[in-house]
Amino acid sequence: MRTQVAIIGAGPAGMCLALLLSEAGVDVAVVERRARDHVISRGRAGLLDQVTVGLLARLGADRRLRSGGLVHAGVALQFGEDRLRVDLKALTGGEVVIYSQRDVMGDLLEIAEARGVRVVFDALDAQPEEVGGDRPAVTWRGDGVGCRLDCDFIAGCDGSQGVSRASVPQPASFERAYDCAWVGILADAPSVHAELIYASHDRGFALASMRSRSRGRYYLQCGSQDRAEDWPDDRFWAELAARLGEEAAAGLVRGPVLEKSITAVRACVIEPMRHGRLFLVGDAAHITPPTGARGLNLAVSDAALLSRSLIAYYREGSAEDLDTYSARALDRVWAAMRLSTWMTELTHVLPGTDPLEQRLRRAEFDHLRHSTAAQAALAQMYVGAPLDEGAAPVASAATRADEADLHDIPGTTVFTGAQARKGYHLNQFCLSLMKPENRTRFRADERAYVDAWAMSEAQKRAILARDFNAAITEGANIYFLAKLFAADGQSFQQAAGAMTGLSAEDYARMMLSGGRSPQGARSIRGGH
Ligand code: PHB
Repeated sequence: MRTQVAIIGAGPAGMCLALLLSEAGVDVAVVERRARDHVISRGRAGLLDQVTVGLLARLGADRRLRSGGLVHAGVALQFGEDRLRVDLKALTGGEVVIYSQRDVMGDLLEIAEARGVRVVFDALDAQPEEVGGDRPAVTWRGDGVGCRLDCDFIAGCDGSQGVSRASVPQPASFERAYDCAWVGILADAPSVHAELIYASHDRGFALASMRSRSRGRYYLQCGSQDRAEDWPDDRFWAELAARLGEEAAAGLVRGPVLEKSITAVRACVIEPMRHGRLFLVGDAAHITPPTGARGLNLAVSDAALLSRSLIAYYREGSAEDLDTYSARALDRVWAAMRLSTWMTELTHVLPGTDPLEQRLRRAEFDHLRHSTAAQAALAQMYVGAPLDEGAAPVASAATRADEADLHDIPGTTVFTGAQARKGYHLNQFCLSLMKPENRTRFRADERAYVDAWAMSEAQKRAILARDFNAAITEGANIYFLAKLFAADGQSFQQAAGAMTGLSAEDYARMMLSGGRSPQGARSIRGGH
């Protein structure tokens, strides 16, 4: 067998990469050690950042995510009884979505099967071969028979215990083992709060999350050697109530515990994420502490970065992007690591912490409460830095905080940097209508034309319905939108009139007699 890119591991990283590459016409084959059912059931994550959601949408793997995912515009951090809601949406324009990794895997595999992507399950003892040379291969045993897949490149997406990681000779390894773990349950009862609560209590950390409206997902910091059996249901619920504080505990609904498991709290990165023609993707190269839910999201963003580099290689024959993949991926890895170690150390009570450190954690929380800039920095990392932005989201945190202040003008969506990033593909689509041949293609089949752009479904719907206000909420810029309504043969007055609920004549009259009254259309801060 021969392929262009051989992928070891059919988890989120491997399947996203496979779909991104095959969509671009690059030939791929995925080799997976376990059976299909096991692949779907093994993941436990459940929080998708905006980069992951955007990518799944691009792959057309978001139909169920859109109907079943729970969109969260904010997240709570709590210290004792004091709770702070970080408004992700206002601070960054972004959101996160609760949707289980199992469902993500189910969706990705279904699409891969529909598109004819080759996935070999039950492939035992897979081994990358000759990665230092020009003709690498992956070998394995399937049905007792030795198999070999010759390829140009290998993507190691087989996790922290996989063979790919072990095939990088003498990597630099950075590790931290925290002296604690998480015991987690999935309960058949609605979560205690509509958004997530990361709670720090003298007794230790607690996290209230969810998998659906009717299923809560809770975690407690526990001893690093604890086993799930050490946490009978009653003990878990009582401890959770104590750590969540009185207000939350009062609303806590106990329900049957469907699952209980232990998660390690550790950090590990190996560098570089490449050896010859073998590229490491996701957990194969890094494990972040679970606080902040970076693991799955980083795996997906690695896959997106590597797919771009490989596509550039096959389209333009340039290996330049492949040569910088490791460094670019690591920039994001370390930014994510900063968030998850910071959130862990802020919220967990680690054995041996001295009283000064306890007070410092409190001071850090108070700083966060009082600083919009600090909240914006946290929010930007939590919702995921856009892939094109590099790894320095924090540098612009102050700007983001300022921008957040612009979101309180009734009826007006200010075209901030965050909106521009959100609307990038939408505005590029509008711009494409400058060319007559594109207008013809658009008119012939509007749906097919918008589907070719990496827009969200909400953006596509706004375009198709000519709902210009919705388009602006989704990041459109009025000057770009003008290309769309001009293509429809509408004047600026007609379009602007439609957006304000006026006829073109009434709109023109209003503008000629001095324009809109500023009354009620200013910032609501300070009583304007
Ligand atoms: C989860 O729901 O499993 C979850 C959510 C947020 C985290 C970690 C885990 O930071």
